[in-house]
Amino acid sequence: MRSLIDIQELSTAEIDELLKIAQDIINNPAKYSEMCKGKKLATLFFEPSTRTRLSFEAAMYELGGNVLSVSSAESSSAAKGESVADTAKTISNYADIIAMRHPKEGAPLVASMNATIPVINAGDGGHNHPTQTLADLCTIYCEKGRLDNMTVGLCGDLKFGRTVHSLIAAMARYENVKFVLISPVELKVPSYVKKDILKQKNIEYVQTTELEEVMPELDVLYMTRVQKERFFNEEDYLRLKDSYILTPEKLKNAKPDLSILHPLPRVNEIAVAIDDDPRACYFKQVYYGKIMRMSLILKALEVL
Ligand code: CP
Repeated sequence: MRSLIDIQELSTAEIDELLKIAQDIINNPAKYSEMCKGKKLATLFFEPSTRTRLSFEAAMYELGGNVLSVSSAESSSAAKGESVADTAKTISNYADIIAMRHPKEGAPLVASMNATIPVINAGDGGHNHPTQTLADLCTIYCEKGRLDNMTVGLCGDLKFGRTVHSLIAAMARYENVKFVLISPVELKVPSYVKKDILKQKNIEYVQTTELEEVMPELDVLYMTRVQKERFFNEEDYLRLKDSYILTPEKLKNAKPDLSILHPLPRVNEIAVAIDDDPRACYFKQVYYGKIMRMSLILKALEVL
């Protein structure tokens, strides 16, 4: 049994296998409906979530398993000062697998080092969010029919957006993927992402502040929310929060087969008017997130 803390821990073959299982779950859901019978998932969320926690829980129920849940730090003994290590040791007695979200970078790693069951990182601070990346990859694959030969635009808060860092790391493995990094100067992709992934693998990328200028080039546009919870002062957040608002007008030079993704929650980054545009994929992304978490649970529990 294996934990998943960082998308980089998965080989490309393992990602491709998770995608293959996901396709089979979509086509034959009944085949999977009892595969986790008798198994329990503990969701330990010390930071707010709608999609990740509930999709993990829905995934386990759809596999015939059960769920134990901590939905906030305040409702657990973390509020009394219990360490992540002690929590992980404790939950290992109750469940077969843990999905953990924590505001501190590295907390799920610490949990995985102390648990006797697999720990899946469901988002740690501004660091990583590997299961969102699996959802994103599944969405891109299902929408475009490929993960190679494309130009991916990432727009918004590329500094604190953990989903951005994980998605770059994952997409960088595929042939002829170019990145267009669109952000305010203050919210550029961290230099370690550029140095350790893009430059190291000699991957073509450009940085810009202008979304509309690069729109015609994009096959995928990944919009992100400015991460209010990671800012140290509200003034900066207020100044930057509406840097990019995608409207139908801004899409007029976009490719007809552009895929628009957003990990959600959306605040103001995509006008509601775009929701009915066939290029909007962000609610399909929610569905694929549940399917990929089903696929991951099956592999982590060695059911498949
Ligand atoms: N995309 C995502 O992580 O959403 P939640 O914060 O609602 O889990």
